[in-house]
Amino acid sequence: MTSHRLLTGKVVIATHNPGKLREMRELMAPYGIELVSAGELGLPEPEEDGHMFAENAAIKAVAATRASGLPALADDSGICIDALDGAPGLFSANWAGPGKDFAPALARVQAELAKRGATAPEQRRAHFVSALVIAWPDGHQELFEGRVFGDIVAAPRGPGGFGYDPIFRPDGHEKTFGEMSAAEKHGIPADGSPGLSHRARAFHILAAACLRAPA
Ligand code: IMP
Repeated sequence: MTSHRLLTGKVVIATHNPGKLREMRELMAPYGIELVSAGELGLPEPEEDGHMFAENAAIKAVAATRASGLPALADDSGICIDALDGAPGLFSANWAGPGKDFAPALARVQAELAKRGATAPEQRRAHFVSALVIAWPDGHQELFEGRVFGDIVAAPRGPGGFGYDPIFRPDGHEKTFGEMSAAEKHGIPADGSPGLSHRARAFHILAAACLRAPA
C-alpha cells in the first residue's frame, strides 16, 4: 500500500491564475490549512516546458516550494478536444494569448471544429484534465489526477467559472460549467463522493491521501 504524507501548516498555492486560485481555496477551506498564493508571495511563474500535465504541475510546485521553503500545491490542467487531436490540451492557457483573454480562444475552438465539420455533440467530445502535485521542501512529491468528460456546445453559455467553462457541458448535465454555481461545478458532495469537475475529482483523491479535517 502506498503511504502518503500529510499536508499541514502553511501551504503555497502555486498558481497565478485567479480562477484556479479561487477554486483551490474553496476546496482547501475545510482543512484548516493556512494558504498563500504564489502571486501574493511575488514568486515568478516558471516556464512550463513539460510534455504532460503532471510534469508541468510538478515544475510549478517544485519552483514554489524551492522559492518559499513551504510545501506547495500546483494544478496543471486543460481541455482536450477529440476532434482536434487533443488540442488545446497542454496549450489551453496559451490559446488565450498573453492578455489571457478567453473570448478569442473560445472562438478558435468553434472555428477549428467547424473546419472539421464537427457539428453534432458526438463529434464534439472533450474532456478536462487536472493534475495536482504537492511538493515539499525536502524533495518529496505526490501526484493526483482527475478528468471529466463531456462535449463542446455550439456557442458559449453562462457567466460562471473561468477559461473554457462556458463551452463545456459535462456528461449527464444540461448546463455548461459556465452556467453552474461553484458548488455544482466543484463542490464536494456531503456524502463524500467525488465532485463533478476534473479539479474536484483530483482533489478528492488528494484529500483522502494527504489532508485531515481539523477535529
Ligand atoms: P495552466 O494549467 O496554468 O497551464 O492553465 C490551464 C488552462 O486550462 C487555464 O488557463 C484554462 O484555460 C484551462 N482550464 C483549466 N481548468 C479549467 C476549468 O476548470 N475551467 C475552464 N478552463 C480551465
